[in-house]
Amino acid sequence: MEFIFTCSEAHFKLIAYEFELYDDSFKFKKVLFTGNDGSFTALAESALTVAELAHLIKVSPIIFVRHIHAVDEVFEVVDNFCDLVCVAAEKRLERFLSFGVQLRTDGKLGGAAAKEISQKLTNLGFEQDMKNCQQVVSLTVSGNKVFFGVGKVSDNLSKWKGGMPFYSTGSEFGFVSRAEYKLKEALECFDIDLSGRKDAIDLGAAPGGWTKVLAEAGINTIAVDPHLIDKDIMKNPLVNYRRTTAEQYLADDDGKSFDVITNDMKMDTTDSVALTVVYRRRLTSGAVGVMTLKLADGFSYKEIQKAIGNLTDGGYKILGARQLYHNRSEITIAFSSKNEK
Ligand SMILES: C[S@@+](CC[C@H](N)C(=O)[O-])C[C@H]1O[C@@H](n2cnc3c(N)ncnc32)[C@H](O)[C@@H]1O
Repeated sequence: MEFIFTCSEAHFKLIAYEFELYDDSFKFKKVLFTGNDGSFTALAESALTVAELAHLIKVSPIIFVRHIHAVDEVFEVVDNFCDLVCVAAEKRLERFLSFGVQLRTDGKLGGAAAKEISQKLTNLGFEQDMKNCQQVVSLTVSGNKVFFGVGKVSDNLSKWKGGMPFYSTGSEFGFVSRAEYKLKEALECFDIDLSGRKDAIDLGAAPGGWTKVLAEAGINTIAVDPHLIDKDIMKNPLVNYRRTTAEQYLADDDGKSFDVITNDMKMDTTDSVALTVVYRRRLTSGAVGVMTLKLADGFSYKEIQKAIGNLTDGGYKILGARQLYHNRSEITIAFSSKNEK
């Protein structure tokens, strides 16, 4: 199968290394285009199906890929190209699942083509869902070629076009920092449902983006940071700000336990993981966690593997690890605590 993948330009060299580590049939073909945001869209090949590949990426984990879609057919950009796409899509779409059309382009075709295809498919009786479709007609346009594929949204790794989420800034507590998007994206990417969770500890909370996301999910949140958090976030009755370090908060032990832990501390990766492991004793069984690993210039892949290994050895089950769209020089890891000590 040929497939399209996206990743950040900065981590492109790691992609082939990572894929080859877990899939010996992986063959890189070419970069199709670079987005304005510095993301690469590229073509590759694997003997796996797209569902098998998506599963492999999630469990391995293959960290630096953001989005994939299978290439079922390749079209030329001709006048009746939208009709050709609809004929091919009609054969592949499942009747009882909602669909969306995602078109990414190096500049030749615009959103008008995606709209026309959506409309034609709707006229054929398929149900479109712009926000939460179950299957996607993916179109990657490069030069005169259109790489077309239809698949389940879960096999694309992200519901967003090219793995590039767009979140609105509006909320009762306003926009605090871009960091809040990182947590939103992580929750979506790793399929973490915060509903029913009661108590969170947010390490490295300032200026307060992650705390805001947790409090808006109705969770009592202890926000720990020597730097101040945003004053509007502090006003939220669910937020309890502690002006201290994560190490000191732990040493002071107020006896609280948590069913969510987040850690976005600007800290050496080994130290940050070690601290997360020590915090495990304050977590309830089944607690979930999200942390970032800040990657120094010239980091080695072994450092990431070691961090994941240390979390596992420390009693966490890894739910996933990914270089998300909202991550810069960092990756995000999600995990859960089983509390078998
Ligand atoms: C990237 S910022 C966190 C952004 C935050 N997640 C948000 O959404 O606004 C990193 C934070 O880590 C904090 N930090 C660094 N070392 C820390 C430590 N030992 N304990 C607590 N916070 C720490 C820094 O003060 C800084 O505010």
